[in-house]
Amino acid sequence: MRDAYGPVDILRVATVEPPVPGPGEVIVRVRAASLNMADLDHLLGRPRASRVFTGLFRPTNRGVGVDVAGTVEALGPDATGFQPGDRVWADLFDSGHGALADQVRVAASALTPLPDRVSFDDAATAPHSGTLALQGLGAVGPIRPGERVLINGAGGCVGPFAVQIAKARGAEVTAVDHGDKLDFLRELGADHVIDYTREDVTRRDRRFDAVVDIADTRSVLAFRRCLAPGGRYVPIVRGIGSLAEKALLGPLIGGLTGTRMRAFLWTPNQRRDLDELGGLIVSGAVRPRIDRRYGLGDAVEAFRRLESGAARGKVLVIP
Ligand SMILES: NC(=O)c1ccc[n+]([C@@H]2O[C@H](COP(=O)([O-])OP(=O)(O)OC[C@H]3O[C@@H](n4cnc5c(N)ncnc54)[C@H](OP(=O)(O)O)[C@@H]3O)[C@@H](O)[C@H]2O)c1
Repeated sequence: MRDAYGPVDILRVATVEPPVPGPGEVIVRVRAASLNMADLDHLLGRPRASRVFTGLFRPTNRGVGVDVAGTVEALGPDATGFQPGDRVWADLFDSGHGALADQVRVAASALTPLPDRVSFDDAATAPHSGTLALQGLGAVGPIRPGERVLINGAGGCVGPFAVQIAKARGAEVTAVDHGDKLDFLRELGADHVIDYTREDVTRRDRRFDAVVDIADTRSVLAFRRCLAPGGRYVPIVRGIGSLAEKALLGPLIGGLTGTRMRAFLWTPNQRRDLDELGGLIVSGAVRPRIDRRYGLGDAVEAFRRLESGAARGKVLVIP
């Protein structure tokens, strides 16, 4: 847990009283948790504007970690839909955080049953980043088999899910990132890879039917260059400035160029998304990639691994 916004070494391991479930709440015994860029942003309190929601001067939630997979340990009054021992998973982004713990208190309504055939470790990789990938691909509209789909910034937390889901939908996938992440992306099924440090994907001859921009480092003016007629572009925006630019300028540029460009805001922790992700994992269409596993006591090291950008797949924290 942590008491203030700050760098990863403000994290500390604390022994606290076991949580007690309130009305409608469940205690989940955490079997695996995974780290996302959102966890790092939450730790650092960035962008600063986000502190309006997470606590102006200090974080409202001292707990850390959103992706959780585990078993139901106890139920509070009126908590329905689950029994002790049930396997569950969730993204705690809007329900208190705190996945990096032995046990976490969660509203029963925030939990989704976890299919028996999905391991806890695999499950923990997916709720946050897998949902962003699903919803980002949903926002560019239905992907038709054979469509040329570009995933920009594909080698981080969200991209590996986006690449695999787009492939499962029959797309011809081009993935942009750099260094040895490109081999990793080929392994995941990307048909083409581009190193953004060597080549500007928006200045190639090749056009795309759909672009999911996870890196969000360029303007809509750049991306309109690489859209095919009728092409669709969706950024998973990282900040208020980008949101404003993409929400205001995107529809205008799209309208003028016969494309569709718009910003997108996700809805975290939807049961239908987790059910779909579970189905994709069970079928083998999505193979969660695990970079390294850390114990709770090594959470600072786990965050450092995420922060370094060196991870190939998700960083897990196993209580
Ligand atoms: N809009 C919303 O509703 C919403 C909701 C939740 C989260 N988010 C945001 O969405 C992001 C999720 O992405 P993520 O977790 O996958 O991030 P990530 O792990 O940082 O991955 C981004 C990848 O893009 C690469 N990259 C950096 N610059 C690039 C460039 N110019 N061109 C192409 N690729 C580039 C990075 O490589 P290197 O860093 O190694 O260079 C990294 O591999 C988070 O930042 C989060 O804040 C948005």
